[in-house]
Amino acid sequence: MRRGVRSPAPSNEQLAGSALQRRVEALLERMTLEEKVGQLAQYSVGTPTGPGTGRSDYETLVRTGAAGSMLNVVGAQETNRYQRIAVEQSRLKIPLLFGFDVIHGYRTTMPIPLGMAASFDPALVEQAMHLAATEAAAEGIRWAFSPMVDIARDPRWGRVAEGSGEDPFLGAAMARAYVRGYQGPSLSESTSVAASVKHFAAYGAAEAGRDYNTVDMSEVSLRQVYLPPYQAAIEAGSATLMSAFNTLNGVPATANAHLLTAILREEWGFNGFVVSDWTAVAELKNHGIALDGPSAALKALSAGVDMDMESHLYAPELPRLVREGKLPMAVVDEAVRRVLRVKFALGLFENPYVDEKAAAYVATPEKRELARRMAEESIVLLENKGGVLPLAPGRKVALVGPLADAPVDMLGTWNGKGDPRDAVTLRAALEHRLRGTPGALRHARGTDVLSADSSGFAEAVAAARASDVVIAALGEDTNMSGEAASRTRIDLPGNQLQLLEALAATGKPVVLIVFSGRPLALTDAQRHVAALVQAWQPGIEAGPALVNLLWGDVDFSARLPITFPRSLGQVPLYYNHLNTGRPASQTDLTRPASNGAEKYVSRYLDERNTPLYPFGHGLSYTTFDFSPPQPSAPSLQARAVRGQRGEVLRVKTRVRNTGTRPGTVVAQLYLRVLGASTAQPVRQLVGFQRVTLAAGESRELEFPLGFQELSFFDARATRTVEPGTRYDLWVGDSSEATQHASFTLE
Ligand code: BGC
Repeated sequence: MRRGVRSPAPSNEQLAGSALQRRVEALLERMTLEEKVGQLAQYSVGTPTGPGTGRSDYETLVRTGAAGSMLNVVGAQETNRYQRIAVEQSRLKIPLLFGFDVIHGYRTTMPIPLGMAASFDPALVEQAMHLAATEAAAEGIRWAFSPMVDIARDPRWGRVAEGSGEDPFLGAAMARAYVRGYQGPSLSESTSVAASVKHFAAYGAAEAGRDYNTVDMSEVSLRQVYLPPYQAAIEAGSATLMSAFNTLNGVPATANAHLLTAILREEWGFNGFVVSDWTAVAELKNHGIALDGPSAALKALSAGVDMDMESHLYAPELPRLVREGKLPMAVVDEAVRRVLRVKFALGLFENPYVDEKAAAYVATPEKRELARRMAEESIVLLENKGGVLPLAPGRKVALVGPLADAPVDMLGTWNGKGDPRDAVTLRAALEHRLRGTPGALRHARGTDVLSADSSGFAEAVAAARASDVVIAALGEDTNMSGEAASRTRIDLPGNQLQLLEALAATGKPVVLIVFSGRPLALTDAQRHVAALVQAWQPGIEAGPALVNLLWGDVDFSARLPITFPRSLGQVPLYYNHLNTGRPASQTDLTRPASNGAEKYVSRYLDERNTPLYPFGHGLSYTTFDFSPPQPSAPSLQARAVRGQRGEVLRVKTRVRNTGTRPGTVVAQLYLRVLGASTAQPVRQLVGFQRVTLAAGESRELEFPLGFQELSFFDARATRTVEPGTRYDLWVGDSSEATQHASFTLE
């Protein structure tokens, strides 16, 4: 049964093409069992990205046809070297497929994915990832382990940096953008790389935000919140998918037939192949569902994991299992077909090598410009008290903090082949900006990211006193987020808050720039500052992008893709929550209630329910207003809406720039379904558009709401719409938008 599959994406179609199938079958017929299994084995050569497995016989593995893929081989010469062994020395001459963690750039490092999601600009993300693909493919890497689309609601989890935040609608839009960017119009183009949507599924819901931890959730939440971005990536044609480390409702994702076969293949019609995450097949033993290596291999392959990344179990165990009659040959054949299809579709048989001279990296102005635009669109203005920003020309600046001049910390986690020497820091960019005015810039480090030593404070305070404005560059270093980088504290690390307090005590306005791979709890920091800018890890153009924004050459247009809590105790905190039966009527209680009416409600004694900054929030240098949303009809027939070709409701609104400068707003449409058979979130994003308007200019916007946007999951976890429901709509520039309208489904 195939539910909900839209028209197949080019690469998914390509993988199903009959000419390609014939080539696959012809090759499969000639393969020995060992050669078949070799295609299902992937080895890491070079710097490992997981626990090392200590092998060194890679050339022999390739020569004997015992390796189908390699990861972490970097450089055109190296990929060509291994490829030559495969194509010229192995019996069947099947090319290797080289994979790599191309996550937010290959050499030209863009902002971390959480930052790119803040752009709400899938078209630009697509361009950025196409550049990444071009650079990787030039070195023979035709497979990116990306996009990482795990919805994440817990900022303790370090891998929140790698995804697009907490929202399924935004996550799905970003997932499509990455896949299109990597795969281009056809996988066979020499600049295309196969995408690998990961980590399937629900890895982002790891308990307590601790990496690799257990996930337990209802099928309704799985489908409504967590699956949409994976499905969007598959519909966009992602040629491969990576299974996750976690258990899901007791079954490890890497042996989970419900996910890998029933949902992925039977419902979504996926034609590509599935790779395990690093040693995840062997980890089935730690999960306690496999007694030994052979049973781990058997369970993973049978559930739908086609390729074994670094467990080194498929190659030795699968042939024996087949010979002992425990594993049907047909299961092995099917996995091999899936892998070969992708290799054929990529054109690897025709063009196995890359041109080593052409692969040399050139940092063209166009690449840097794309990185700068991406950074400008990802940096969020959270606070601007008294209009301290944009900075006026001629102001003397004290630049303080451990991240003011830290190139490596601009790159962020999984920075591929990124080079800190390419990164322009805030200090370098400010020196350039203020070069004509002697004495306009004072720089003091103040402290380190993780330090208790305050001996540098005095110099920083002196710089602040001698200046008109302080720019404080604080936050986390690159290694504090990403894989295996969960934290139990999410405030500014070390003594950075104390440094900030010392700076604020000078009375000079402080502009705080936070570099981090996750939302930090900025409640205390926020009290001391005039402006607060969330910069994430912005990539190689960090400094120039920030300077353009701070001086107002470019407007701030980014919006938060994830909620910023007031304190860690509120976590998980996300905007699209259910209402509960006892919602707090005042969400902003500042004092504990005594015995009054507000006691028996869903709240804390010592903290408000609301976030410090909500999903979708971000300021601009101008202001916007929205007219109330106008649905094209006051009511629709539920049965007319059903299905992919059902009726579409159109919602109009007019947005106006009410300020005195041009600016960009992210118009956001939210809805709530009332009266349905399952409780629905208080709000969920169902549309967004970036709109740039001159001062005083207005524009009418239209958002289509079809079955996909209007439907939800009933108690049997089936996507549906129901008669007798009311839809509340809000439009505006954050998840707290107030312009409102309703319509009904009859
Ligand atoms: C990560 C994956 C990554 C793989 C290969 C694993 O540890 O979880 O996201 O793609 O390593 O480097």
